[in-house]
Formats: sequence, structure tokens, C-alpha cells
Amino acid sequence: MPKERIQKILSAAGICSRREAEEYIIEGRVTVNGRVVAELGEKADPDNDVIKVGNRVVRQNAPKIYVLLNKPRGVVSTLKDPQKRKTVVELLGKLGSRVYPVGRLDYDTEGLLLLTNDGEFANAITHPSREIPKTYQVKVSEMFNDYDLRQLEEGVRLKDGMTAPAKVRKMKLTDQNSWIELTIHEGRYRQVRRMCEALGHPVLKLKRVKVGKLDLRGVPLGMFRELTPSEVKAMFASAGREQKAPPEPTGTRGDGSPVRSRRTGTRG
Ligand code: URA
Repeated sequence: MPKERIQKILSAAGICSRREAEEYIIEGRVTVNGRVVAELGEKADPDNDVIKVGNRVVRQNAPKIYVLLNKPRGVVSTLKDPQKRKTVVELLGKLGSRVYPVGRLDYDTEGLLLLTNDGEFANAITHPSREIPKTYQVKVSEMFNDYDLRQLEEGVRLKDGMTAPAKVRKMKLTDQNSWIELTIHEGRYRQVRRMCEALGHPVLKLKRVKVGKLDLRGVPLGMFRELTPSEVKAMFASAGREQKAPPEPTGTRGDGSPVRSRRTGTRG
């Protein structure tokens, strides 16, 4: 196999995202054949070199896992938290040590979060050029008027530029608060909260209910299920990519239905 960048090897092996791999390299935690990787551009041969992150040997052929979690509020969507708050991987029990989150949901946001050990999948879904739609149910203070709703649809000016056009569906509008469903194609930092704040409506509750064609049906808050092979294929397709190899059918029955789901709160 030709040599590849170390970040790519780590993400393809499901150790972490490419960005996190860069952090590990900068922190001096990655070695190739016993030598610390000194530069971000370094390459290695994933088949013949011994690549390690800390003491963990990077294996290329781990079965691919794709998880859909209904994340509760009060849980961080990173692998570790310096403040020692509960992490999404803790909610997955044993499975959690093998996957990492695809993108992020804020500590106070609940809803649909994907996790995987397939770096290609994570890159395809989060790549800005792919524009996978993500739908949020948003509760804000006070009444959204027609002007606010049109601004959300047409674009809101944020510090990092205008937001792209979005879809808005009214759910419930009262004088005290409003519920809307907002579908966006971007994934900027705290985007939905910042869009609503820019219009003078702080977000009171935020829940992601859909990513691409995936939704939360059959997955109560704090539970998870594995994606079926056809769901994985469809997500690759909607990101404009072809899947390199079919996923290992871990955790799905022959008919494609998920077998592993777990209530959270039973651990740590
Ligand atoms: N937008 C936000 O503001 N927060 C999230 O968690 C996701 C999208």
C-alpha cells in the first residue's frame, strides 16, 4: 500500500477525526515504528509500519460501526471532557470506546448524533461542500414574527458571514415563546443558537430531529441504535460518495433491523 498522511490513516482506522489526529500529532502522542511523528505532513505505510497513538496500536481493518444516538441535554459530544462532564461515548457502554462523534451537538442540545469509526463516512457527512440537511426543533423566547422567519429563510448576518438559505416550518407561536422547525445545510459553531440570537430571540430548547434522511423514530431519548447497511449506503450517496466496502453487519439482524440499543443512565 502506498504511504498516506498519518491523519488520514488514524481517521480511516476509526481512532479519531482528522482534526483530532492533528492535535494528537502536535501533542507528540503518535509514533511510527517507535519514533514520534514530528510534523503534520508526515506519511506512513498503514500495512507495514507500526503506528501507535499512546499505547494503542492502530489497526486498519476494524469492523465499521455506525451509531445513531438520541443525545440528552447535559452530555458533551467529545471523547473526553476536561471538566469531567458525561460524554456521549459513555452512553454507548463498551461500543463507545470504538467510535467518535460525527460533528458536534452542544452540551445543552439534544437529539440526533451520529458516531462511527469510519473516517470516510465522517468526512463525507461533515464536509462543507456536501450540504447534508439537518433539521432542528427550536424553542425561542417571545413570538417569531414574519420578518424574523423570512430572515431565517433568506440568511442571517453572523460574525463569520451570512448563513445560507434555510427552510422554516412554524410549529407553535405564542407571545411568550415560539417553536419552529429549522432545516440548515451548514454546520457552523452553535449556528442555530447564533442565528436566533442575532434576531433577538435567545434559544430556550434545541433538538436535532433529522440528519439527511435519518430521524429519531424508534430511538427514545438517551437510547441508540446502529444504522442498517442500506442507511449507511444512502448517507454516502447523499454526500455524493460511494462507499468503499460494505459495512460489517455488526449489530444488525439479517433483515437489517438493529439489535443493539441501550438505555442510558445505567452506566457511570
Ligand atoms: N446549532 C447550535 O446552535 N447548536 C447545536 O448543538 C447544533 C446546531
